[in-house]
Amino acid sequence: MITYRDLISLDDLQACIDLQIRVWGFDPVDVVPLPILLITGKYGGFLHGAFDGDRLIGFVYSLPARGLHRWLQWSHMLAVDPAYQGTGIGATLKFRQRAFAQTHGYDLIAWTFDPLEVKNAYFNFEKLGVVARLYEPNVYGVTTSRLHWQLPTDRLVAEWWVIVERDDLWSGPLEEAYPRVPDLIWQDGRPYPLDVPATPWPEIFWTPVPPADAYPEDWEAARAYRDLWQKTFREVMTRAFSAGYVAVRFTRGLPDVPVPAYLIVHPEALRQPLPDW
Ligand SMILES: CC(C)(COP(=O)(O)OP(=O)(O)OC[C@H]1O[C@@H](n2cnc3c(N)ncnc32)[C@H](O)[C@@H]1OP(=O)(O)O)[C@@H](O)C(=O)NCCC(=O)NCCS
Repeated sequence: MITYRDLISLDDLQACIDLQIRVWGFDPVDVVPLPILLITGKYGGFLHGAFDGDRLIGFVYSLPARGLHRWLQWSHMLAVDPAYQGTGIGATLKFRQRAFAQTHGYDLIAWTFDPLEVKNAYFNFEKLGVVARLYEPNVYGVTTSRLHWQLPTDRLVAEWWVIVERDDLWSGPLEEAYPRVPDLIWQDGRPYPLDVPATPWPEIFWTPVPPADAYPEDWEAARAYRDLWQKTFREVMTRAFSAGYVAVRFTRGLPDVPVPAYLIVHPEALRQPLPDW
């Protein structure tokens, strides 16, 4: 049986560091070190683990932060041991974090994530219900993690509103409502992005990313392919966000949208304004 509890003891914290290394393949220099976990977990943060028996197999970690005109919980890490991924543990940890934030008077949890990671995007937008309106290029610099491709660590800032349900802002069946196909070039069975679409943009449109299995076998070629996509995606999102658009949904692919894509909407298409920040 999987159990959940705060990580408090020194053994818990060491297990959390070991799990960071196991999941991300970080060099020790890139892990959140024990004293910082200890202090932030004890004084206002949320450091919460999932256990199989005595063994730590997942954790979520957020800390109190000031930004976006408010106090918020900044969620720095979420990890589940690869042997346990895809079984609902990640979502359970996040909803426990949400309950913590609600109890402690926060209205927002925010974090960054790699927008080209299809699984993470789906998890964040569709399982949790985040929205995004900020793109941060190369936030952490080039890290030692093999998951980061030694590329600039471009990230979307996920906003997970604790006081508003995402569906109160925007909802609707994706298949029927927005069948617009993103513009792409296909080569060797792989999609390649076109340049940034011309403005004025429609009120609602899809911005594509490559499918998780589209990457070439060869690591260098996969890195170059990803680099190309990242540059185009950065351009589109930076321009769209500066024009006020919001990313509200994500699809792994629909009949008329045959690639993963973000649904980007003009704020006037939202049912109610997003909380100010
Ligand atoms: C992201 C992560 C924490 C999700 O935890 P999880 O326990 O696997 O997630 P859940 O089982 O609650 O939810 C699974 C859903 O999330 C998505 N997902 C994200 N990453 C996944 C993974 N590596 N394996 C399987 N599903 C994953 C799936 O689409 C799945 O949805 P589906 O079952 O409807 O297809 C976990 O995969 C992980 O530790 N990844 C590596 C570290 C990381 O990327 N951290 C998050 C940075 S934002």
